[in-house]
Amino acid sequence: MNLKNDLLLRAAKGQDTERVPVWMMRQAGRILPEYREVRAKAGSFIKLATTPELAAEVTLQPVDILGVDAAIIFSDILVVPEAMGLPYEMIEAKGPFFPKTVKSAKDIENLKISDPETDLAYVLDAIDIVKKELNGRVPLIGFAGAPFTIFCYMIEGKGSKTFSEAKKMLYSNPKLAHTLLQKITDSTIAYLKAQIKHGADLVQIFDSWAGVLSPDQYRKFSLPYIAQICDAIEENPVTVFAKGAFFARKDIGKLSCDVVGLDWNMDIKESRKLIPNKTLQGNLDPCVLYASFKEIEKQTKKMLKSFGGQRYIANLGHGVYPDTDPGKVKCFIDTVKSF
Ligand code: CP3
Repeated sequence: MNLKNDLLLRAAKGQDTERVPVWMMRQAGRILPEYREVRAKAGSFIKLATTPELAAEVTLQPVDILGVDAAIIFSDILVVPEAMGLPYEMIEAKGPFFPKTVKSAKDIENLKISDPETDLAYVLDAIDIVKKELNGRVPLIGFAGAPFTIFCYMIEGKGSKTFSEAKKMLYSNPKLAHTLLQKITDSTIAYLKAQIKHGADLVQIFDSWAGVLSPDQYRKFSLPYIAQICDAIEENPVTVFAKGAFFARKDIGKLSCDVVGLDWNMDIKESRKLIPNKTLQGNLDPCVLYASFKEIEKQTKKMLKSFGGQRYIANLGHGVYPDTDPGKVKCFIDTVKSF
């Protein structure tokens, strides 16, 4: 189907755009009162994420209410470990928790390479509904966690500041770590391809915990698996967002992806030099959205000037924080759109 607004896709492919496209990581879910209403109706995050009609409804909210240039499917990166055989719980005000984690070779053997059409059918069904409802208004972004970030949760079983349990395996049993990373990668490739088949116009890989690794460890345990995914996905554009991996920008710039996401620690001009041939996405500090409207406008314009108008997708440097005022978010989006 022809898209009425294809700014995001043209920017991703390096084509000229008449204005900079804008969307926000974690736009579906965290900030809108309309989301909290649907979530309350669903009863829990997991119920919401596994009910395609409701997941589709909250996916569309930011498009209708905030006017962003793309929708991102409402789901979570943790659906992949669940599909492989490690179910998760979402604990209120705390975050994800895995009752069972991976500790041994036997545990890895027991995991399966997931089949998206059966194990993750609820996400694909949600994509089908969203595509119908969007009716070509804006593109739909699909996503998955990078293998290393998923590995962190499968070993650690919950969030962590250091992911030292997960990193312990990299140093003490690298072979085992590689076996698990490969299994996650195979599941992820099949999953992203299925999202595209169902209508995802672009897919983003979130390496949220890239920043806990040293450059050497990153080159051994994360980059090669992201590279496999990028190489396998030829159908639609791919974005790689590796939070904290400022040290790996040059390597990420050489992947066969189309867009590289930057966090707010990464200098814009320096990043353009390190990644000369790709579209960049980012990178406003989400905390700027706590400032006054005037300050938000000022900081957003500064960012836009620094990136330049082409080969660029405006976004935050990480997900929008849950206690951000939707009015301030709208100010950020409108500032980009009228620049
Ligand atoms: O971008 C979007 O709006 C689409 C939806 C989306 C969610 N999670 C919904 C969600 C996306 C893209 C994610 C990705 C995700 N999930 C990441 C990578 C991005 C990042 O922020 O680095 C990670 C690390 C996770 C794991 C996860 N899920 C955590 C740590 C938590 C708890 C903290 C939090 O984000 O609120 C979640 C829960 C989660 N995922 C919620 C939502 C809307 C909140 C659950 C609720 O409504 O109670």
